[in-house]
Amino acid sequence: MTTLDNDAMEMLSNQDIIGREDINDWQVIFESVGRDDGSSTREVANNCPTMFTWDYEKGYRPKLDKLYEKAKTGQWNGSTDLPWDTLVDQEKIAYESYVEGARGPIASANLAGTQLEKWGEKEWVSLNMEYQNWMLSQFMHGEQGALLCTAKIVETVPWIDAKYYAATQVMDEARHVEVFSRYLDTKLSGHYVMNSHLGLLLDDIVEDSRWDMTYLGMQIMVEGLALAAFGFMHQMTQEPLLKKLLRYVMADEARHVAFGVLSLQEIYADMNASEIRERQEFAFEAALRMRDRMQGQEIWDRIGVTPRDAAQVTLMDPDRVVFQAALFSKIVPNCKKLGLLDAADGWLRTKFTEMGVIAFEDFEDTTLDIDANADGSPVERGVE
Ligand SMILES: [Fe+2]
Ligand SMILES: [Fe+2]
Repeated sequence: MTTLDNDAMEMLSNQDIIGREDINDWQVIFESVGRDDGSSTREVANNCPTMFTWDYEKGYRPKLDKLYEKAKTGQWNGSTDLPWDTLVDQEKIAYESYVEGARGPIASANLAGTQLEKWGEKEWVSLNMEYQNWMLSQFMHGEQGALLCTAKIVETVPWIDAKYYAATQVMDEARHVEVFSRYLDTKLSGHYVMNSHLGLLLDDIVEDSRWDMTYLGMQIMVEGLALAAFGFMHQMTQEPLLKKLLRYVMADEARHVAFGVLSLQEIYADMNASEIRERQEFAFEAALRMRDRMQGQEIWDRIGVTPRDAAQVTLMDPDRVVFQAALFSKIVPNCKKLGLLDAADGWLRTKFTEMGVIAFEDFEDTTLDIDANADGSPVERGVE
């Protein structure tokens, strides 16, 4: 990397990067709601050139090759490896968590002065159910984003070992979309459209003309947050089918994040300071969109809670603040490994500090490595 000269580089403002100056403008964040436009598809331009390679030497990048070999034996079948005959009583689960004091996504918020102040059992149980429908819907949409992005990586990455590996990930992501969609259709009680902040991010990732940005946006940021969110849900849920489904998905996702880190480490090593700076800005944009997307805007909108009240109860929930930061427990250390935290005089470090997530920079997650490098399928490994 070349020496940094910040004066020579255009400094983008928050407004330039995310369309607002204040990263914590909660009114704006909660007013942005995903809507059903009546169309069954969404078209996004792909501006990245498709790349043939004539260098077919398998194993030129040994770490990617090893990951590819692991991925081939790590496949599982979403139709037959999960106990789909499990009876799931969603209302009962929602009721039990209400009784145990978990008021859905805002378990310990101060409700004074909001519409939620007068809520009783019925409303809280219903919120718990909506929250689960919403969360699983967002997982499903995010998985489709991953499916499309990894298909794109197959086309755009110039290295044969990466094309091979990414092809296995396309299959993984197809399976993930399939199992989340099936769980929603057969075990839960309704779908949600894609969250607007997630949509903005996925559009930006797909539209970018630089092939490595697909990796950064999807493999590091979206997958990193998903992995943390799956981990929480896996820990919390007592429902055996969902628990197993999440564990299987997480075993795959660990490989996906490893693929992102390995590939980007190589590319970033040859980049100049201004190129790295653009990657930092993109990482920051993605991090904020991911944070904003976790606020359940579409639920509040559906049940008629105003953005003002929704923002207020969310901000007043101390547990929620901790949960939100913990969602970055995989993203921040990976950005550090890639050198993005401290390049450009620590620009991204400052941004992550403002977001309250910098404490995770040295967070080590050994299950991630174990999963990524495991032999055999999750079934053979006995992951339950
Ligand atoms: Fe996935
Ligand atoms: Fe993935």
